[in-house]
Amino acid sequence: MLKSLFKATAAAAAATGIALSLNNKTVSASAVAARAVNAAKVTKKSEKSYDNGVALTPPMGWSSWNTFRRNINEKLILEVATAMANSGLKQAGYQYINLDDCWQSSARDENGRFVADYATFPRGIKPLVDEINELGLKVGIYSSNGTHTCEDLPASLGFEAVDADTFAEWGIEYFKYDFCHNKPTSTSAPNIERMVVSDISGADILTLEAKDAVLTGHARVAKDTRFPGEYITGLGGNIGTATFNDIVVEEDGEYILSFTLRKRGNYYKYARIVVNGSDEYEITTAPTMAQSAEGRAQVLVKLNIGANSVKIFNPFASRMDAAAHQYTKMGLELKRATREFAERMGTEEKPICYSICEWGLNRPWNWGKEAGNLWRTTMDIKANWPSIVSIYEQNVRLAKHAGPGGWNDPDMLEVGNGSLSMDENRAHFTLWCMMAAPLILGNDIRRFLNEDGTAKEDDAILRILTNKDLIAIDQDSLGVQCVRHKTNIKVDVLVKPLSDGTAAVCFFNKFGEAIEEELSIKEIIGKDYCNLPDAVYYECKELWTGEEFDTDDEIEAYIAPHSVKIYKITAKED
Ligand code: GLA
Repeated sequence: MLKSLFKATAAAAAATGIALSLNNKTVSASAVAARAVNAAKVTKKSEKSYDNGVALTPPMGWSSWNTFRRNINEKLILEVATAMANSGLKQAGYQYINLDDCWQSSARDENGRFVADYATFPRGIKPLVDEINELGLKVGIYSSNGTHTCEDLPASLGFEAVDADTFAEWGIEYFKYDFCHNKPTSTSAPNIERMVVSDISGADILTLEAKDAVLTGHARVAKDTRFPGEYITGLGGNIGTATFNDIVVEEDGEYILSFTLRKRGNYYKYARIVVNGSDEYEITTAPTMAQSAEGRAQVLVKLNIGANSVKIFNPFASRMDAAAHQYTKMGLELKRATREFAERMGTEEKPICYSICEWGLNRPWNWGKEAGNLWRTTMDIKANWPSIVSIYEQNVRLAKHAGPGGWNDPDMLEVGNGSLSMDENRAHFTLWCMMAAPLILGNDIRRFLNEDGTAKEDDAILRILTNKDLIAIDQDSLGVQCVRHKTNIKVDVLVKPLSDGTAAVCFFNKFGEAIEEELSIKEIIGKDYCNLPDAVYYECKELWTGEEFDTDDEIEAYIAPHSVKIYKITAKED
C-alpha cells in the first residue's frame, strides 16, 4: 500500500506539478518519479557565496555557440579541443571546451535522463569528456532553466537533480544554464483549509484546521460563498505566514503532511513548508481544471519525538526572487551531485563552474554570487561594434558585484568573428579583461593550426587571444572589475587595481575619430578602485605596443577610432 501511495503521488506530482518531498531511501517508485519527488526537497543554504572552490579568477575557455550555433558534432568538438591544446591557447590559460545548445537529442531516455544527439554525438558525452580530459582540458555543457532550451530541445526545469547527476557522472566541469521556456515559480500561495498529520502507514495522528494556525502579516482566515468551511489565505508574496505548533508525535521519523487546499484562481501556486524552523520542503499546485473546490497536496517530512512546528508561506515577493530561487536550486543540485559522485566512486570531486544565463533580466548581480560562479548581465552579444559597445556600457556599471568566485558575464567573446576590425577585436578583448570578464572564445579556433598541427604563431587573432599581459589583467588574483573613472561620452578612462600593487588604466575610444585624452595619475590615487601609492614617478607600459615611458603625473594617450590604449602603471620612488 505504501509503495503504491508513493508511486501514485510521485507520478501525480510529475504530471500535475504538485510536488512532494520524501527521503530518497524509502522510495521505490520509478527513477523518474523518484527524481521528481526528490527534487522537491529544498536543501538548506547557509553560505553567503556559492563557494564551490572554482572560478577564483574569471573562467577561460571556448564555446560552440557564437560560430557554430546548431551545427556541432563530436568530430568538430574534438578538433576544437586539439586546436586549443596545440595552438598555445591552453598554455595561455584557456581550459574549458563548452558544448552550447544542440548537443542533446530531442528525447530523454527511458529513465528520464538526457541523451546526446544520437547522430552527431553517437558515442554519447562521457567518452568525449574522457578524450578532452586527456588533452588536459575540461568540458562544459548547456541546458535551460525552462521546459526547453532556446533551440526548443529538452531542458532542466523540474529535472534539476537528475540532470545534475548526469552531468557529474559524465565528468562535466562547466555548466551554462539558460533562461528560455522558463516558467517562473509562482509568487502566489495556495489557500489552506487543514493539515492532517499521519504516520508512515497512513494512520492519522491529528488534524489541524485553519483556525488552529498562528498567523503573521497578511495571512488571515477567510470564508467564501461557494463552499462551506474556512481556509487560510494571504500566504503569497512573502507577506504572511501560517504556523501549526504543538504537533506531538511519539517517535522520531517520517510522517505525511496532507494539506486540504481551497482552490481559487487559475494559476500555479507555491508554498514553502518549514518544519521545526529548519527543514525546508515545497509544494507547487497547478492551475485548476477540476470541478471541485478542494484540492490536496502532500509532503513527507521528518518529525521529532515531542512537539513540532510547521510553517507555511511563499517566500517570493517578485519574479526576481523566483528566478533566484530556481537558479539557486540548480546550483545546489550541481554541488550535491559532484560531491555524491566523488564519494560513490572514491575519486576526487570535480566541481562544476556554474554559469547563470538569464540575460540580466532579474538583476542576477544581486543574487548570482550566492547562486553560482558567473551571471550574464545582458542579452546576446553579436560580432559587430554597436553590440560590443552596448554590452560594455551595461556591464561596466556593475563593477562592485564582481569578485573571486562570482563574476559579471558580458557574454562570450566575438574576437575574430563577424565585421570587427583588428582595432575593434583588440578593444573588445581589452575591455573584457579590464572588466574581469570570463574569457570564453567564440570563434573557430581550428584555424590557428597549420596543416601539420603546429600553431600559426603569426596569426593576428591568435596573438590577441594569447596576449599574456592582457590575460594577466583579466586573471589578476585581486579579482576586481575595472571602474569607469571618467568619460566624456566618446572616451572612457577605466582603472583596475592589480594584486602586485600596480594598476591597469585603459583609454577606450568608442567614437569613429581618433582622439587625444589625458589622465592625471594623482587624480585616481586614493580612490577605492586604485591602489597606487602617491609616488615620485610612475612607470607606464602600453600592453599592445610595448611602448614604455615614465611620468610624474600626466598620461596623454592618442587613441585611434574604436580602439584602446591600456597601460600598466607601477609607482616608483627613486
Ligand atoms: C541563448 C543564450 C546564448 C546561447 C543560445 C543557445 O540565446 O543567451 O548564449 O546559449 O541561447 O540557444
